[in-house]
This record gives sequence, structure tokens and C-alpha cells, in this order.
Amino acid sequence: MSPGRRDGAPPKGETMSENHVRIFDTTLRDGEQSPGATMTSAEKLEVAKALSRLGVDVIEAGFPAASPDDLRAVQSIADSIGTSVVEGRPRPPPPIICGLARATQSDIDKAWEAVRPAANPRIHTFLATSPIHREHKLRMSKEQVLARIREMVGYARSLCADVEFSPEDAGRTEMEFLYEALAAAIEAGATTLNIPDTVGYTLPHEFGERIRLIKENVPGIENVVISVHCHNDLGLATANSLAGVLNGARQVEVAINGIGERAGNTALEEIVMALHTRHALLGLETSIDTTQLCRVSRLVSTVTGMSVQPNKAIVGANAFAHESGIHQDGMLKNQETYEIMRPETVGAEKTHLVLGKHSGKHALQNRLRELGYALEGDALGAAFDRFKALADKKKTITDADLVALFKDSLVEPKEHFRLDDLQVVCGSMGLPTATVRIVDADGQIRVGVSVGTGPVDAVFKAIDGIVKVPCSLLEYSVNSVTRGIDALGEVSVRIQPEESAVSQRINPQHGESARAPVYHGHGAETDIIVASAKAYLAALNRMLSTRSEGQAENGVQVV
Ligand code: KIV
Ligand code: ZN
Repeated sequence: MSPGRRDGAPPKGETMSENHVRIFDTTLRDGEQSPGATMTSAEKLEVAKALSRLGVDVIEAGFPAASPDDLRAVQSIADSIGTSVVEGRPRPPPPIICGLARATQSDIDKAWEAVRPAANPRIHTFLATSPIHREHKLRMSKEQVLARIREMVGYARSLCADVEFSPEDAGRTEMEFLYEALAAAIEAGATTLNIPDTVGYTLPHEFGERIRLIKENVPGIENVVISVHCHNDLGLATANSLAGVLNGARQVEVAINGIGERAGNTALEEIVMALHTRHALLGLETSIDTTQLCRVSRLVSTVTGMSVQPNKAIVGANAFAHESGIHQDGMLKNQETYEIMRPETVGAEKTHLVLGKHSGKHALQNRLRELGYALEGDALGAAFDRFKALADKKKTITDADLVALFKDSLVEPKEHFRLDDLQVVCGSMGLPTATVRIVDADGQIRVGVSVGTGPVDAVFKAIDGIVKVPCSLLEYSVNSVTRGIDALGEVSVRIQPEESAVSQRINPQHGESARAPVYHGHGAETDIIVASAKAYLAALNRMLSTRSEGQAENGVQVV
């Protein structure tokens, strides 16, 4: 007998007022579909824990039919995060754990297998309804689409009390047909109806109008929750989601830092802070503990390797920085002159000097904990050694330095190869040459030497000669973490295994695509060549770990 609810009621202990907007987080599903954002199972679990602590109502933990590893990852989130209240969560109950499924029996079976250990499981099934998807992708008539919705929503409901249905590309679906599709889903037992603007095409007034019309014209709509899921292709995802909420939607599908397919999804932090900051006008609430927003943003940026642009609303490094003299003058007189939110409300403490070479392990542990990195035992010992090494080279160590230095400590995948030593000869005379010494997983020391077009190229080629997994370098960037000549250099790389660059395929039946995986790595050092070597090895380690987990390479991705 399944532990899942069978009555479609809110999760145990949940009382939903009319003013409560449910936050449905899809960082681990739609977000993970961003190119290069592949996460290991351990990283997914870490993010799910942070989301629970943040107070989200629903975690869409993945797409279990994509691969056995995706199924297991969702299952383990359902089993741990979905069964108990994580310490620091603003309020019980544990979040609903949701698995995505195409409208097929085998996908729905897999989604159910994955989410059923949760106290509050949900199956989310979808089928495209727009003319372009019906004709070109599905090759199904309207009648066939309606029949499939009835059959598959009904099937999902026979397994699980909480079923969400999404008419994919609802933003471009004829209104009359959308009403029919949604009514069919309600009749078959759907408890949440999600309206996706899959391709980010609609404008706020149009999308709001769609939600209003759906509320007025779909029989039985008053008994279900209306949800919105907006993509950001025109930069309108947050505006569209808000328009949906103003017209009656009470669930918003979002991702941390707005990651997701193409231009991404609605950013969780933006919608939450819009509702919070304009509460007097809107009177709507969420369960989110806003003070955790920056911390979770950092975690997601770390595990996906997708950095947050400095001017990103709410969580960007400049979101609370005031540069111009006029602004600074106003701020000194009254902060409300140029600030509509306080930085501490979103957990964005002003950068301040924290630790130096005389600081102890305990002080480091405390500060790291405040920054969202819980290190204990050996991990803490290793972190302290790295901190001391940096403190010897750099007089003042800021929060930004610490985050750059320890980004990889928390959830970095298994180390197949570790940098032991590195020497580079370069300059305007002669060929740039690198000698690299690496320790492999068995503790064997391997040495590689190569010339290159520059010092970084030479280092990467020397590493390639040892690791022997052909891959292409898609992206390389180096940033200074703080100002000053002794600043840490932070290097990010993205690589792709060479064979997968030609193995992309599309199955027109269901729009499946196995996208060539992209792996990221990050390294921070005062010497940018060493940082580059560490970043490249981190990406290779991630690729090798993910391969040994069997993830992503066979993964079916959906929009
Ligand atoms: O964008 C979309 O349509 C989706 C659905 C699966 C909800 O992600
Ligand atoms: Zn989507």
C-alpha cells in the first residue's frame, strides 16, 4: 500500500489560505536541463535539502524516466527530504516531492516508483496541446490528445492522490481547446493544472488574460490549484508569472537563479521578493524564509557551475551595491532613498573582512557555516590547510575569497585525479611548456609534459596526456575575486567529451533529445595557471564521476 495521499487534500499539516502562493521549485528538473548544469546525485540531494530549508512547497526532483540514475536520485530525495522536516525549514510539513512524466504509462510508473517514498508525493504529467506541437511533434489530432490526457491523468491518479497536469506550450494553444484539455484533466482527477508558457512567447497582459479566462471557462477549475510555469525567452518570465498570480494562479513554478531550458525559468528569488516587497499592494504570501535566498543561490551556482551575473536581481553581487556619489549620499541620509529591500532580508550581508592568518579552525568553521558550507572532521581539516595557505599569501580574506576557495569542498564529485605540482615556462621567447604532476585515484604519481600555444593550453595538454579522455574545451574564464594584486583568481571551465559532440539525437515522437553533456569545473588560487589546472581537473573529475554513475549520457531531456 502506498504511503501517498489519496484524497487530493493539501499535505498533512498544511492549511492553505487563499492568499498563499505555493512555490514549486524545478531547479532539479527544468533547471538541470540548462546546458552544462548536470548535477551528481549527491549534489541534487544537497540542493533538495537547501530547498526544503528555504521553505518551498514543492520540489520537482527530476524526470525519473530519463535514466535509472535519475530515478534513483528522485527516489533518494523522496526518501530523505520528503519524509521529515529538515532543520531550519520555516514550517512543517516536509515539502511535496514531485516527479515529471510524459503522458505514457511507463513514464508515469517510473515517476510513481521514484516519488512514492515521500510523505507527500506528486506525479506531474504533461502533453503538448498547441497546434504546432500537435501537428509536427506529436502527430496527434485534438481528439487523440484529449483521449490521452483522460487516460494518463486517470492512470496517474489511480496511483497517487496528488496529480499535476501541464498542457505543454499552453501559451500558444487555442483557448477553446485549452479549456477542453484542462476540463478533461480535471475530470480524470488532476489536482493541480499548470499553464506553461513553454517557449516564453506571451506578454504579461496576454498571459494574465489566459489565466483569467481559464478561471472563468473551465468546469471544475474552482476545485484545483492553478499553476504557472513561464520561460524567460523574452525576459518576461517573472512579469508573466506575476500576471498569472494576479489573475488567480496560486502556484508558481520557479528555479533558483532562474536557470532552466534556454533563457531559463522564472527566478524563485524574484517572484518571492516581488510578493514580499509589494505585500501591502498584493496581500499575497509564500512560505519562503527570504534570508536564505543568497545562500541557496550560491549553492546552486556552485553545483551547476552557472555563475550569477553581477547585476542579477536579488542575488547578484551588485544587487545592493551603490557606486555613484549621488546614490551614496542619498543612502547615507536614508537607506530607503535607493533601497526597496534590505540586503539582510535576502541574506546578502555586506562583504566585510572576516579572517586572517591568526584565525583558528573554529572561527573558520563558524564563518563557513554562515556562508552555507557545513564542514566537519577531515573536510574541515583540509579546508583549514587551504585557508592557511591562502592567508600566507593574502593579508585580508573576505567572504568572497572564502566562497571562491571552498566552492568545491561541499559536494565536489570523487577525485579521480588530483593536482600535485605544476611548473610552467612561458614568455615571449620560446615555446610555452608545462610539466604537470598528478596523483590518480590509486595514489600513483603521473607526470605529463607538453608545449602549447600559451601556458594554459600547455597545462591542459599535459593533463590530457595523463587523463586520456578526449574532450573539447567549450568555455574558459578567469575572474578576480576581490581587488588588489594579491587577489584570488577564479577560473571556470566547461568541457564536453569528444564522442558525445556527434551523438546528439532527436526522437520526433516525444520530442526526446539526448543532449551532449557538458561538465564544469572551478578552481581558485592566487596563481591563475594553478587555478586553471585545478578547474580543468575538477571538470574532468566531474565527467568521470558522472559517467561512472551512468547519468546524463543516456538522459532524455524535456522542455
Ligand atoms: O516548459 C514546459 O512546458 C515544461 C513542462 C514539462 C511543464 O517544462
Ligand atoms: Zn519548462
